[in-house]
Amino acid sequence: FNFQNTHFVTSAPNLDAMPEDSGIEIAFAGRSNAGKSSALNTLTRQKSLARTSKTPGRTQLINVFEVEDGYRLIDLPGYGFAKVPEEVKKQWQKSLSHYLQNRESLRGIVILMDIRHPLRDLDLGLIQWAVDSDIAVLALLTKADKLKQGPRKSTLLKCREELLSMGGNIQVETFSSLKRSGLDVVQSVLGGWFED
Ligand code: GTP
Ligand code: MG
Repeated sequence: FNFQNTHFVTSAPNLDAMPEDSGIEIAFAGRSNAGKSSALNTLTRQKSLARTSKTPGRTQLINVFEVEDGYRLIDLPGYGFAKVPEEVKKQWQKSLSHYLQNRESLRGIVILMDIRHPLRDLDLGLIQWAVDSDIAVLALLTKADKLKQGPRKSTLLKCREELLSMGGNIQVETFSSLKRSGLDVVQSVLGGWFED
């Protein structure tokens, strides 16, 4: 699969505004500021396909990108950001869970977690949901460049142990958009899901 021709399709406030539910979709999910949009840009080798920001909560809509006809990547709104008004937060969580629970074409989820604070409650809840729903998971420990090799490796092994014990189809890797590390694995896992 060539991810470089990926283009923006739409920003959907809810499921009704999404493209037709056919083909195969892979969603990028994670806490606000985990690096979802950056990872999408790294994967597609486009600087500003998905909007990134230092301000958590940047992505508030379901952003839809098409790799090729019928193959889509979805940039989901981040969860767990405290400084958002309660009403807005409720609205996001609603569209997020509605998307996850109702989207037939959803084949796999990439769950991104900052390597410095992985496996928070909301991450584990989402991963458990994916396992229960038979949805494949690629857990990425992002911003891997922020840790030295020793702690990076030990965090990876610890996360692998905990996540693999949950059963299901889960793979855990480190990733850095800054260093472009982990990119090969992401490409091959996502390519595999698309070709399934
Ligand atoms: P929301 O849309 O708010 O949910 O955030 P997001 O998960 O899309 O995060 P985004 O990609 O916007 O990145 C958040 C911040 O982390 C930005 O300042 C990025 O530059 C930074 N960042 C993302 N990936 C990396 C990385 O691999 N290394 C480092 N050092 N910084 C990163
Ligand atoms: Mg984003």
